[in-house]
Amino acid sequence: MAKEKQNPYEPVDASPVKSFFVYMLTRDIRLEDAILDLLDNCVDGILRTGAEKTAKDKKTPYEGFWAHIKFDRNNFEISDNCGGIPWSLHKYAFTMGREADPDRPQDAPGTVGAYGIGMKRAIFKMGKQCSISTRNEKDAYDVEISPDWTEKKGDWDLPVEPSKTPPKYQGTTIVVGTLHAPIADRFSIDREALQSTLQQTVETHYAAIIDKGLEIKINGVLAKARPVKLLFAPRKPKSTKTPKAIRPFMFRTKTEDGVEVFLAVGFTRPIPDPDDSESEQIQKRYAAVDAGWTIICNDRAVVYCDRTELTGWGEAGVPRYHNQFIAISGIVEFRGDSSKLPTTTTKRDVDASSRLYLQIKNKMRDGMRVFTDYTNKWKNDLDESRKYIEAGEPLSLDEIKVESTHLVFNATTKSVPPGEQYKPELPMPRKLESRQRRISFVRTVEEIRRVAEYLFGEAEASPSTVGEECFDLILKDAPK
Ligand SMILES: Nc1ncnc2c1ncn2[C@@H]1O[C@H](COP(=O)(O)OP(=O)(O)OP(=O)(O)O)[C@@H](O)[C@H]1O
Ligand SMILES: [Mg+2]
Repeated sequence: MAKEKQNPYEPVDASPVKSFFVYMLTRDIRLEDAILDLLDNCVDGILRTGAEKTAKDKKTPYEGFWAHIKFDRNNFEISDNCGGIPWSLHKYAFTMGREADPDRPQDAPGTVGAYGIGMKRAIFKMGKQCSISTRNEKDAYDVEISPDWTEKKGDWDLPVEPSKTPPKYQGTTIVVGTLHAPIADRFSIDREALQSTLQQTVETHYAAIIDKGLEIKINGVLAKARPVKLLFAPRKPKSTKTPKAIRPFMFRTKTEDGVEVFLAVGFTRPIPDPDDSESEQIQKRYAAVDAGWTIICNDRAVVYCDRTELTGWGEAGVPRYHNQFIAISGIVEFRGDSSKLPTTTTKRDVDASSRLYLQIKNKMRDGMRVFTDYTNKWKNDLDESRKYIEAGEPLSLDEIKVESTHLVFNATTKSVPPGEQYKPELPMPRKLESRQRRISFVRTVEEIRRVAEYLFGEAEASPSTVGEECFDLILKDAPK
C-alpha cells in the first residue's frame, strides 16, 4: 500500500491475457475457413520453392506437390510436401501477427500470407495441443504447443527442437489434438456434412491451384477443380452454320501498386425461359450453378458466385439478382503483393471498403449491365438468343486471358483506374416485320440431335438452327 502511494503513476502491464487473445483470434472464423488458411500456407510454401519458374510444363507448375487433410474425433492432421517452413522464417512463423519489419526478407511473389496469423488461428480454433514438424532444405525441426500453454500466464515461448523423425521430403505436418468439444463433434457426428462442404469449397476456391497441379485430398478423397467458365465465341467457328457468338465484356489494368486486375463477365449458359426460371425444379437445379461474381486473389477464389450488392447487383442501374439472370457470371482476378490485394484477414471475403475494389466494382457493374440489358432485350425471343449464346465455348479464366490477347481492347482513360476494355458487340433481336410470324414448337433433345446430325453431320446445333433449316429445306420444294 505504502509503495502505491509513493508512485501511483507507474506504467500498467497492458500485455494481452493469453486465453482472451486466443478466444478473440478464433471467435469469428469458421472452421472451414481456418482449415483453408492451412492450405494457403502450403501454396505459399510451393511458391517459395520457385516451382513456378523451374516447372517443365508452365501450365502445371505445382505437379508433384500434395497436401493431405485428415480428421477424426481425436485429431486433425494436415501434411504436405510443399517445401517446409524455412529456418530463417521460423521465428516469424510462430509469432502471433506480422510486424512491419524492414529487415525481414520479401516473401516469394504471389504468396497470400499477409497477417501472420493464419496457422496459429487454425490450430487454436481446433484444439489445445499441437505438434508441428517441418523440413526445409537440411533444416528439420519440431514445434510443440502443449495443452496448458494458453493457461500459462505471460509466457508466450514455444519450444523448438531438432526433428526427432525428419520427413524424407521437404514439407510440413501439423497435428492438432485435445480438440475443443464442438470441433470433435464436427469431425465425428457431423463428419459427412463437413467433408462435403470442405470438398466443395476446395474444388471451387482452389480450382486454379488444383489445375496448376497441386493434389489436395480430404480424408483420402481427391479434390477435382471446378473453375467458373464463360462462353466465348471461338475465333474460328466450328461450321459455317454456327451463328456469330457472344464474347464476355473484359477489362484489364495494372495499378500503381503493381496489382494486375483482369475482369470478364458474360454468359455461362442460355438465358432460361421466364416460366422455367420460376419453376421450383429449375430453381433447385440452378441453386448450385455458377451464376454471379467470383473474385480471385493470387489464384484463390475469395468470393464465389456472389449475387448480392457486394459485387454490384442491385446497385447503380444494375438490377437485383433474379433467376432470369442465372446465365450471367463474372470473374475478377487481382494478382500482386498480398498486402495490396482487397481481401479480409480470413481471405474468404473481399474487403468491400477497399479503394481498389470499389473502383473495380464500377467496371464490374459496367460489364454486368451489358448482359442484363441483353437478357431483357431478348425476353421475347429466347430461342433466337440461345443460338448466339450456345455458339460460344466454355473457357476458364486463363483461357479467356489467352484469347483476349487476340482481341482489340480500347483504352479507358477516363475511368479510375484507367485501363483497357473490350466491350462485345452483341447481336440484337430482329424486329418482326408486319408480314413475318414466329414459329415455335417443342421436341425432345434426342429428336433434335438426330435431325441435327442428319442435316449438319453434327448433333450440337442449336434447336432453333435445326428448326429453321428443316423449314427452309421444305420451303425450297414447296410449290409457289
Ligand atoms: N505448410 C507450410 N509450408 C510452408 N510454409 C508454411 C506452412 N505453414 C506455415 N508456413 C509459413 O509460416 C508462416 C506463418 O504462417 P501464418 O499462416 O501463421 O501467417 P501468414 O501466412 O504469414 O499470414 P496469414 O495470416 O495471412 O495467413 C508463413 O510464412 C507461412 O507461409
Ligand atoms: Mg498463412
